[in-house]
Amino acid sequence: MSKICIVYHSGYGHTERLARAVERGAKSVEGTLVRTLSVDQVETHWSELDGADALIFGTPTYMGGVSAPFKAFLDSTGSRWASQAWKDKLAAGFTNSGSPSGDKFNTLVQLADVAAQHGMLWVSLGLLPRAPGPDGLELNRAGFFLGAGAQSPHGAPEVEAPPPQDLATGFALGARVARAAVRWKIAAGQPPTELATRA
Ligand SMILES: Cc1cc2nc3c(=O)[nH]c(=O)nc-3n(C[C@H](O)[C@H](O)[C@H](O)COP(=O)(O)O)c2cc1C
Repeated sequence: MSKICIVYHSGYGHTERLARAVERGAKSVEGTLVRTLSVDQVETHWSELDGADALIFGTPTYMGGVSAPFKAFLDSTGSRWASQAWKDKLAAGFTNSGSPSGDKFNTLVQLADVAAQHGMLWVSLGLLPRAPGPDGLELNRAGFFLGAGAQSPHGAPEVEAPPPQDLATGFALGARVARAAVRWKIAAGQPPTELATRA
């Protein structure tokens, strides 16, 4: 089994909905165990992050970047950065903001950079903008490549947010990371025969 851990923050529940969609996507891939943790749960669950084959980071975009609680989580990974404990794990990310752009590209860049600092391997979204999805939904309507970017419009509680196409985009990201983790785990377990004999 490959193990995926989704770590997220959500101040008002919108990013949590996206996290659950990412979780459903990851769980849809056979041979995958998925654990979803909010940043306040991490302190007592570090072993699950350390034991995962892939970590998926999710945060709302606040003031053009990751939210303060998510940043506190990222900063708390410093000892793992120092020992490169997460080196060669897969990583991916998603975010959600009030505006169609809302500068959330910056949030995804922050997440990818932290993954790179840990020596992790970043998995992109892998969808063209407005890619056809299930039930006629257009996936990746925001046109991101680094990760999943959703929008939950301000002040419209009657509107489901993020909308179904953004949740389906999150599902696709979760499934993509889970498929990559299965392949990655198989590859990591194979003896490097040819390379070893050439060395
Ligand atoms: C402190 C704060 C800062 C925000 N900054 C941005 C921003 O830079 N860009 C944007 O589009 N939306 C911004 N928003 C709106 C949130 O991204 C949006 O409401 C989102 O759905 C919140 O997700 P959550 O319910 O998971 O907390 C901000 C909201 C808050 C509370």
